[in-house]
Amino acid sequence: AALWCVVPAAGRGLRFGGDLPKQYLPLGGRPLLLQTLERLARHPRVAGLVVVLAAQDPWWPGADAVNGKPVRTATGGAERADSVLAGLRALPDAVSADDFVLVHDAARPCVRYEDIGRLVAEGVAAGGALLGAPLRDTLKRADEHDRALVTEAREARWRAFTPQLFRRGELIAALERARAEGVAVTDESMAMERAGWRPLLVEGAEDNIKVTTPADLALAEFLLARIG
Ligand code: CTP
Ligand code: MG
Repeated sequence: AALWCVVPAAGRGLRFGGDLPKQYLPLGGRPLLLQTLERLARHPRVAGLVVVLAAQDPWWPGADAVNGKPVRTATGGAERADSVLAGLRALPDAVSADDFVLVHDAARPCVRYEDIGRLVAEGVAAGGALLGAPLRDTLKRADEHDRALVTEAREARWRAFTPQLFRRGELIAALERARAEGVAVTDESMAMERAGWRPLLVEGAEDNIKVTTPADLALAEFLLARIG
């Protein structure tokens, strides 16, 4: 069965800088956000999209469908987790609490189709999953003066990407619980881990960068042209 995807796009892009939020900067000839939405909507496992926008967003072009897939909008909050919660609540009623949903950062336009496919196949079987990649660099813990204190084990350390795949009801409960506990979770998996779940890490291509700085946008341009 096909799944709905929540796309948080309500951030301010502070690390990127500039007047236009990064999700609206041109990438491959169209706004980055639309590039991401088109990519998701073209995937046969995606049934529809909920795009989470900032409260005052004058740039959203107002699409109610992309590539024939329905698009809904929701209004985000101060933190990414607030935006994701708003998106989960704005899913159509046909998506039950037991249905799996995808959550994918608007700022990751280069996710590969085959990785989405593997995430869904393995994630449904595992009861929840996320794309990621094992750490390849040596990892240092630093003191407050940027002096290396100790080298951390690289084994069993992963970088977490999106999409992340969880059951709608379980994810809402985990995010609400983290919020009630005053814990700022930086992804869905973190909320699920805290609630006792063990999401499956599915290795995906490192092309799936999050556009955070201007250099990332140039890299995404290159990667998109190569991935197609
Ligand atoms: N996001 C969101 N709501 C927030 C914060 C972030 O929907 N309150 C979204 C962003 O739009 C982005 C994704 O979450 O698609 C990942 O966040 P990040 O890369 O950190 O984007 P920003 O928060 O916009 O950037 P920055 O942290 O540099 O301000
Ligand atoms: Mg942010």
